[in-house]
Amino acid sequence: MNLHNASIYISAVSPAQYPKGMLPEIAFAGRSNVGKSSMINKLLNRKGLARTSQKPGKTATINFYNIDDKLFFADLPGYGYAVRSHSETKKWGGMIEEYLSDREQLAATILLVDSRHKPSQDDITMLDWIRHYYENVIVVATKVDKLKTRDIPYQLDMIKDVLSLTEDDILIPFSVNDNEGRISLWDVINLLIAGDKY
Ligand code: GTP
Ligand code: MG
Repeated sequence: MNLHNASIYISAVSPAQYPKGMLPEIAFAGRSNVGKSSMINKLLNRKGLARTSQKPGKTATINFYNIDDKLFFADLPGYGYAVRSHSETKKWGGMIEEYLSDREQLAATILLVDSRHKPSQDDITMLDWIRHYYENVIVVATKVDKLKTRDIPYQLDMIKDVLSLTEDDILIPFSVNDNEGRISLWDVINLLIAGDKY
């Protein structure tokens, strides 16, 4: 797979706009500001492909990225942004559910949580949705560069505990500021799109 050959495919607001065809797809879910767009850029070694911002709640669309005509990444809208209204929250939930429930080519939805914080009730709800479709889940703990090295194992254990992760689930520590987690995550993605069970 030639990672240089990656581009935005569409910022979709409705299923009619989702990519057609059966290229495998990997979705990235998690609260606003957790680092979804940054992770996509890091995986692709591209600085500004997926837009990132200091202002949470910007991405209210599902942004699809085509990677070398072999794979799609789907950057899902972030949740947990306090200022969002009730009707917007409802719209968000509908959009995510519609996407998850009707996307045959979806090889996995990866949940991102901030390694510094206890996963929120929204994270738990999101993971329940994901578990509804997949037996095992992949969770990535972001921003580990912001933790002291000696605290990382404790934080990972706490996340495992709060999210009730099992031995068969995957939890990868990740940082965009160094290469922490990048190869491990690509290994998992490559297994998934080859159709192998990870
Ligand atoms: P929404 O699009 O609002 O849902 O947010 P997002 O999940 O896409 O987050 P985004 O990638 O825009 O990152 C939010 C902020 O966190 C940005 O300021 C990033 O630079 C920062 N950030 C993301 N990943 C890391 C990381 O691994 N380490 C550090 N130190 N900062 C990070
Ligand atoms: Mg984003």
